[in-house]
Amino acid sequence: MRKMKFTMLKLVVVLLLAGIIPSYAQQNNYITTGFGAPVSYKDASLTIGRRGPLLLEDTEFIDEMAHFDRERIPERVVHAKGAGAFGYFEVTNDITRYCAASVFSTVGKRTKIAVRFSVAGGERGSADTRRSSRGFAIKFYTEEGNWDLVGSNFPIFAIRDPILTPSMIHAQKRHPATFLPNSDMQWDFFTSRPETTYLLLYTFSDKGTPDGYRFMDGFGVNTFKLINASGHHVYSKFHYLSDQGLRNLTARRAQELTAEDPEYAIRDLYNAIGSSNYPSWTLYIQVMTDEQARNSSFNPFDATKIWPEDIYPLIQVGRLTLNENPTNFFQDVEQMALSPSNLVPGIKPSPDRILQGRLFSYPDTQRYRLGPNFLQIPVNCPLNVRNYQRDGPMSYNNQGNNTVYHPNSVDSLNVSQRAAALSPPYS
Ligand code: HEM
Ligand SMILES: *[C@@H]1O[C@H](CO)[C@@H](O)[C@H](O)[C@H]1NC(C)=O
Ligand SMILES: *[C@@H]1O[C@H](CO)[C@@H](O)[C@H](O)[C@H]1NC(C)=O
Ligand SMILES: *[C@@H]1O[C@H](CO)[C@@H](O)[C@H](O)[C@H]1NC(C)=O
Ligand SMILES: *[C@@H]1O[C@H](CO)[C@@H](O)[C@H](O)[C@H]1NC(C)=O
Ligand SMILES: *[C@@H]1O[C@H](CO)[C@@H](O)[C@H](O)[C@H]1NC(C)=O
Repeated sequence: MRKMKFTMLKLVVVLLLAGIIPSYAQQNNYITTGFGAPVSYKDASLTIGRRGPLLLEDTEFIDEMAHFDRERIPERVVHAKGAGAFGYFEVTNDITRYCAASVFSTVGKRTKIAVRFSVAGGERGSADTRRSSRGFAIKFYTEEGNWDLVGSNFPIFAIRDPILTPSMIHAQKRHPATFLPNSDMQWDFFTSRPETTYLLLYTFSDKGTPDGYRFMDGFGVNTFKLINASGHHVYSKFHYLSDQGLRNLTARRAQELTAEDPEYAIRDLYNAIGSSNYPSWTLYIQVMTDEQARNSSFNPFDATKIWPEDIYPLIQVGRLTLNENPTNFFQDVEQMALSPSNLVPGIKPSPDRILQGRLFSYPDTQRYRLGPNFLQIPVNCPLNVRNYQRDGPMSYNNQGNNTVYHPNSVDSLNVSQRAAALSPPYS
């Protein structure tokens, strides 16, 4: 009897090793509920008899249906349709005399990036080939926090005061009564505001219908303030120019693709990266000293203006390369929260009023669109967070047993001397 038990045990061990008897360690070869329990029957609800109604005790049905009922989150109020990818930024030229941000600290340094391209106008289901500016937004995961460059394929914006943005967007969306797109609203707004002319010229040029996302340039548009390790600042604009060159669709081809292949740009980017044909862009800055800014004949903080490149030449900084597709679009791209307010030591806002308005708008909409703990979603989560913010819905990293108030005599945290030195007061 004893011998037989021993033999049985040996048999079980052999079968386990051979993978014939399932063990709890082997995961997910069966379907589970949301709470992880194995599901025994998947293709019908529990009913009272063959023709009877459903039973409330069918918690597997309720679990499935209740989750489905909550699948949709609000789409972005603008730039709703987009595509994303991951990659890296590599410094190719030393700009530490202008900027002390850790991302630029040494030539050759690489920083992981996430990028989201988008169509500025249109809804989440609209065509990639629609005539509009394109969004080209980059999240740099630096050691000193996430730095987001939330840019466009046009180097300028339509207006110069952020208070007009909601009206400008409403005029381009659907009519309140008919729910139809309405050109009269759009032209009424644009013709009432002459500063929009430059953007309209871009929109109705070939650049309004770029050939996917790989063959277009990116611009930070807004003016930023760069601060170097001596605390000296300059003003700056960012340009990131396509190493693939520029290509556009003719108006006719864009219209055909709107019907035949409305996912044209998402597919093009995904397939290029999937076949190791990695797109890249070269990052440049333009620099303006405080003195030049004061003396400038145009307002260098006006987002409807470009800075002439013969006076403010492009200075090379590095290269952006995209070499990784998302494995889950909703998780990594739809939930990506990019914001011009995500700035790091060495890069600060200028008095650019459009930028100032954006500093409020993006994290505000993201708290609504994704919830107050949106920065804990992995794609948005910085490399290092330590502060006194706690709780709220879906707190996934609530910072353990760390002290929850400041000042205190418990933790040994202090402010960063470096951040303080790189944040000179406004002059
Ligand atoms: C006052 C002016 C502006 C306001 C109020 C504004 C507001 C917004 C808002 C609320 C979103 C949605 C963000 C989200 O749900 O995550 C957004 C997205 C975006 N905006 Fe703006 N915007 C302004 C100007 C600009 C300018 C000048 C640019 C170009 C430099 C720009 C580029 C983008 C891009 C690329 C996105 C999409 C970000 C993504 O891929 O998730 N916006 N904007
Ligand atoms: C910062 O910029 C000022 C003005 O150009 C310059 O004199 C100083 O050497 C710079 N500091 C560094 C660390 O590059
Ligand atoms: C747009 O593409 C056409 C060919 O499709 C080309 O002739 C034209 O120069 C391009 N325009 C720009 C601004 O690149
Ligand atoms: C200021 O502008 C005037 C007129 O355009 C020019 O002559 C002068 O050199 C400028 N000064 C500086 C510091 O750029
Ligand atoms: C929490 O941290 C305090 C010090 O801040 C320590 O005294 C205490 O033992 C910790 N409690 C747990 C459960 O780790
Ligand atoms: C924290 O930093 C400030 C400013 O740098 C300094 O004055 C203060 O002594 C520091 N406090 C501690 C406890 O280190």
